[in-house]
Amino acid sequence: MASPDLVPCRPWQGRRVLLGVTGGVAAYKAVQVARNLTRLEAQVDVVLTRGAQEFVAPLSFEGVTGRPALTELFSTDGAAMHVRLGRNVDAVCVAPATADFLARAAQGRADDLLGTTLLATQAPVVVCPAMNDNMFAHPQVQANLNMLKARPGYQIAGPTAGPLAAGEGEGPGRMLEPHQIVEFIGRALGEEKVFSGLHILVTAGPTREAIDPVRYLGNRSSGRMGFAVARAAWRRGAQVTLITGPSALEYPVGVNSIEVESAEEMYRAVSEIIGAADVSIFAAAVADFRPSISEAEKLKRESTGEEVAFQIEANPDIAIETSSSRKPGSVTVGFALETSDLLANAKKKLDEKEFDFIVANDAMGEGSGFDVETNRVAILSPGSDPEMLPLMSKDAVAEEILDRVGRRLSSEL
Ligand code: C5P
Repeated sequence: MASPDLVPCRPWQGRRVLLGVTGGVAAYKAVQVARNLTRLEAQVDVVLTRGAQEFVAPLSFEGVTGRPALTELFSTDGAAMHVRLGRNVDAVCVAPATADFLARAAQGRADDLLGTTLLATQAPVVVCPAMNDNMFAHPQVQANLNMLKARPGYQIAGPTAGPLAAGEGEGPGRMLEPHQIVEFIGRALGEEKVFSGLHILVTAGPTREAIDPVRYLGNRSSGRMGFAVARAAWRRGAQVTLITGPSALEYPVGVNSIEVESAEEMYRAVSEIIGAADVSIFAAAVADFRPSISEAEKLKRESTGEEVAFQIEANPDIAIETSSSRKPGSVTVGFALETSDLLANAKKKLDEKEFDFIVANDAMGEGSGFDVETNRVAILSPGSDPEMLPLMSKDAVAEEILDRVGRRLSSEL
């Protein structure tokens, strides 16, 4: 089975991506980009510059995409390949983009297949620089980059600081990781006018309620559903703030991620932001209760004896307590994870918490609920019949939720 992030889904599935590879050592990572995109069921055409072929063979790309990798501007495969490529593509990504490529692209050079295709296309272009950190900091490289940044449809992705091939690397220069590049391509493919520039707040994960300095009350939430929503919202063009309890998941690229521990901390973080949010999506599994007193020292068996009694008190209900601070006209989505009477309980929470939508899932259902990669949900909104969705990946559920939010936002325009 494909790993969770590579289950075919929007916005990649069935879309055409042109991957340009230029001559830097990070070219080996471009093979993984091509493979991930192919597993997401995008159709990937790869164009290698002459420099790229010094690092990685066209055959490696053919092997993972199942399509011929392209290298020649002048070939017998048919005239004006660059024009056809440029026209028939939904997004272009250049990874790695070397300093030489940035200079050539900034000038609009057209003496190889990649350069000509970039001039011929009207598709969005994602540029992923990769080079030595001193080279990247050079004013000429920065000037070239700024020219590309200013070009409509161009997005610069990375680089980051981190280990470089030559070992050193204080400043940025390292190319983004393949899965992050795939997300940037997802944003180029998925951008939607209605979401563009909107501020979307997402809560995710469990909360931890301290018992003593080393122990806590918690729950089995992994954060997957909320993280999937945050990624999907960013891909649609939103500015996303993710407030998450402790999760083992990597923070999504492009998203402003804030980690909190307890429900109280999550409440404070949400309170600060919610007034500016056009959409708020409460996917966190917030602990409803916390120990009344968190011990300053680790509880020890010698002092507690065989039985420990806790006083438990209620946590703030974040959705309710912050409801009066919501931005007027904003859209709010909640989740309900239930073990019985799914729809009735979800409907009650929809009303009580003044959500525009609630996503109900059955904690006991197969492939549904906490710590699994899939979900079977029903979506409820005031005054409509519940919509029962089939079992699907959490990424696909996130898209379904945002479709409905998008329709609501468009109808309010
Ligand atoms: O835990 P419960 O099923 O009541 O959660 C329903 C919704 O309320 C979820 O969207 C959850 O994120 C939110 N919630 C909250 N603060 C709490 C408990 C739940 O915002 N203390």
